[in-house]
Amino acid sequence: MNDTIHILGIETSCDETAAAIVNDKGDILSNLVLSQLDEHRAFGGVVPEIAARAHIDHLHTLIKAAMDDSGLDFAALSGVAATSGPGLIGGVMVGMVAGKAIAAAHDLPFLGINHLEGHALTPRLTDPEIAFPYLLLLISGGHTQILVVEGPGRYKRWGTTLDDAAGECFDKSAKIMGLPYPGGPNIQAIASECSDPKAANKRFALPKPLKGRDGCDFSFSGLKTAIRNHVEKLPAGDLKREDIRDLACAFQNTMAEVLKDRCNNAITQFKSHYSQERPVLVVSGGVAANTAIRATLETLCEGHDMRFYAPPLGLCQDNAAMIAWAGVERFRLGLVDGLDFQARPRWPLDPGAPPRHGAGVKA
Ligand code: KG4
Ligand code: ZN
Repeated sequence: MNDTIHILGIETSCDETAAAIVNDKGDILSNLVLSQLDEHRAFGGVVPEIAARAHIDHLHTLIKAAMDDSGLDFAALSGVAATSGPGLIGGVMVGMVAGKAIAAAHDLPFLGINHLEGHALTPRLTDPEIAFPYLLLLISGGHTQILVVEGPGRYKRWGTTLDDAAGECFDKSAKIMGLPYPGGPNIQAIASECSDPKAANKRFALPKPLKGRDGCDFSFSGLKTAIRNHVEKLPAGDLKREDIRDLACAFQNTMAEVLKDRCNNAITQFKSHYSQERPVLVVSGGVAANTAIRATLETLCEGHDMRFYAPPLGLCQDNAAMIAWAGVERFRLGLVDGLDFQARPRWPLDPGAPPRHGAGVKA
């Protein structure tokens, strides 16, 4: 008898339609992601209704292709895991209902996965040596948090954003600079053309919100406003590529510095709470694909004699392998759900964390 756990993962919470099959050895048997970038580009951001309809159009084909790629049939699966929140509710419903239908038709357990838990547990998919508890910087389009990951379903949130998320700040600032959607990768691309980052920082002074303050919270709306002010001061209608390059470079450096400062506090706090020989700081979520941010955090960890880990680039942005893997972790613990599991547009990883007061605080 084959005791290997195989989980089908489905992800539809934003603008990526994704299906994957992963086993409990950490093998990714298939991992397909269909981006809806083209559908949303004209609007400069994700349009929820368009996203939900596109998931409906493509999800069944993608699931079939993922099954074919894996060489398994549905009967060989141990369970079906689908993102059930947080996210755009129309899209979440599409993936969750598809997952439940497959589970019901093949008499398989269903697992309703918190999308953030997918990002949080990804490092253990690619590196089995990463043990609980570890420190996590979760930086995505909708969330920016520092958490202690104690196990599946067991999180302590030490910091969160008081306003915009880091990815949101990347995307909005890029839009102000006239760069195309999605902003994060485009800021990184143009910033990489800057040969003198120090001069760029000097030319465009930017605020570093909360830097030097206690705690692990974040604030990014002032940074975005400063970008707007700089752009408005540049000659209208004549935004030169060199200007945008330098501004993008200064922005990215500032982001990295602020994230470093907040993580520095978190590391000190982690070391005083947990005695581990060589603790691990993990960065995950879409913004974790940023190479400048990764490099800055790696240097920070070296200074603290900590291990730094970032998942492979393809697993930082939304994908279904991370949902399938969260399914594996939960399945192993018997944490399966019924077909009456409800979608949750807001779903904090640490429901007990004290609320933060700010304009755009996300769960
Ligand atoms: O995790 P993710 O794919 O979706 C959410 O759950 O939000 O994150 C998407 C975010 C977007 O804001 C995108 O601009 C940002 O990740 N992002 C980046 C980079 N690649 C993606 N931000 C900075 N640098 C990048 N290279
Ligand atoms: Zn995500």
